Amino acid sequence: RELLLLNGPNLGILGKREPEVYGTETLADIEAAVSEEVAPRGWRVRSVQHDCEGALVSTIHESYETAGAIVNPGALMIAGWSLRDALANYPNPWIEVHLSNVWARESFRHESVIAPLATGLIAGLGAAGYRLAARALLGVVED
Ligand code: DQA
Repeated sequence: RELLLLNGPNLGILGKREPEVYGTETLADIEAAVSEEVAPRGWRVRSVQHDCEGALVSTIHESYETAGAIVNPGALMIAGWSLRDALANYPNPWIEVHLSNVWARESFRHESVIAPLATGLIAGLGAAGYRLAARALLGVVED
């Protein structure tokens, strides 16, 4: 009983990255919050962050046995076609998360190439979005 938490480029430096946009919580804080959310229901979290698209693609290939995923693609939302294709072959539900409200920002962030494949999407709620995504994902995978 494992879920995948996948974070893309520039998300390993959360806490120190444009805190006025992305908040002060670190990726470790987010990992702890997601684990805390799902552990009472018997789930473990496999958390992986990479700055390189290929490493994210490989992680997805190696994670087909996870029951679902939470994915923040970072800027790969804009043109991460190999990430998109890897997610197309991921056999289980997954939820896209963005810390910031991408539609309230520059227009190049207004379209996500992975969003059409997601079960759902949460944006603009900061680190809390990951916790909400975890709760929603459990609702889907435990169905
Ligand atoms: C982000 C939004 C992206 O547009 C940006 O490139 C990121 C972070 C977010 O969580 O708000 O790296 O995915």
